[in-house]
Amino acid sequence: MPVAAAGDGPYIIDGEGKRYLDASGGAAVSCLGHSHPTVIRAIKDQLDRIPYAHTAFFTNTPMEELADTLVEQAPEGIEWVYFACGGSEAIEAALKLARQYFLEIGEPQRSHFIARRQSYHGNTLGALAVGGNQWRRRQFEPLLIKTHHVSPCYAYRDRRPDESEEDYGRRVADELEAKIQELGAESVIAFVAEPVVGATAGAVPPVPGYYRRIRDICDRYGVLLILDEVMCGMGRTGTLFACEQDGVAPDMMTIAKGLGAGYQPIGALLVSRRIYRAVREGSGFFQHGHTYMGHPTACAAALAVQRVIREDDLLARVREMGELLASRLHERFGQHPHVGDVRGRGLFRGLELVANRESKEPFEPELALHVRIKRRAMDEGLMCYPMGGTIDGRSGNHVLLAPPFIIEERHVDEIVDKLGAAVDGAIAEVAG
Ligand SMILES: Cc1ncc(COP(=O)(O)O)c(C=O)c1O
Repeated sequence: MPVAAAGDGPYIIDGEGKRYLDASGGAAVSCLGHSHPTVIRAIKDQLDRIPYAHTAFFTNTPMEELADTLVEQAPEGIEWVYFACGGSEAIEAALKLARQYFLEIGEPQRSHFIARRQSYHGNTLGALAVGGNQWRRRQFEPLLIKTHHVSPCYAYRDRRPDESEEDYGRRVADELEAKIQELGAESVIAFVAEPVVGATAGAVPPVPGYYRRIRDICDRYGVLLILDEVMCGMGRTGTLFACEQDGVAPDMMTIAKGLGAGYQPIGALLVSRRIYRAVREGSGFFQHGHTYMGHPTACAAALAVQRVIREDDLLARVREMGELLASRLHERFGQHPHVGDVRGRGLFRGLELVANRESKEPFEPELALHVRIKRRAMDEGLMCYPMGGTIDGRSGNHVLLAPPFIIEERHVDEIVDKLGAAVDGAIAEVAG
């Protein structure tokens, strides 16, 4: 690996002075690029005040202010925040709090989680269990808690030609209802899903109406809805929370990545009033915790990131640059013989690569096309996030793009040019 030696806006500079345009924000993290002076100043100032104080003894100002900022903008019903150090930790907290909620309200028989195939929720054991990516789960299967997986909402692959988007969305959402009925409604804790699927499928948004139906099904059976916005949240899709665009509010939501933009490690679990009250009026204590939760320096960084996004009106910029990126991607790859789908929302875009555009047949997994694209992109001076196993954890390849919110038109051109060269070069390589 080259050594990351310095940052310059949306670029990372290696030890030899070579510049890489960060078109994936690492893994959808660096939404303000790599040298934002306001965020760096906020971290230094916090270090001068108090770097760390354990939350069993003290609260701290940046944590309180960050929680207020998040709640103020959160979907209806979300009123409380539980801080963590990253996405997996936030998911673990969600799973445990969901289980504890049912103990508090006298339904201790609930023990099942339902999630979706091809989702990614993190690499710790609970998060891996709800995740639906076979390649990541397989070898740890005997250690994983009981989870059940239904189909993702993946219209490019799974919508039948005779189905409207709405009919397709209803069909896959109804799989959740069938699974709840199969397990027995009184035994299910929660349904966990990424509103826009990121790492494992390449920026796959739901079809219209899908999440509203999911919300209705959860409500009908008293099952909690946990939305994982670790990757797609915090403005990435053009609204602060991705689920705003689907017209639903979850019972709990996890965020991380763009929350601190990589300036410090931080994640959070956003919790609804109903769940908070059940714990408060019940045992009074969430049986969980980590040493570094609510870390003052991490919260100061995230607070500064969120203030910059608001003050510089960066969500409007995400929408504007997102449209521009989408249209340039469609121009460059829309008719490409080996790009089957160009998709996503805001500055969260994906390309799905295919051996044959008509049949949608994928490339052989053994060719590891995604590895070749990544290597060629790095040679070109471009960071993107290609991955294999798009379809079922084994077959299929995609490239995920998640550039910083501060990019300009010239960066969009650079992304599309360099990505085009990397994709064409890698395909020529596997073609012989
Ligand atoms: C949707 C989603 N959830 C959870 C995680 C896990 O986050 P972390 O790697 O910070 O533990 C990720 C990481 O890519 C993610 O994309």
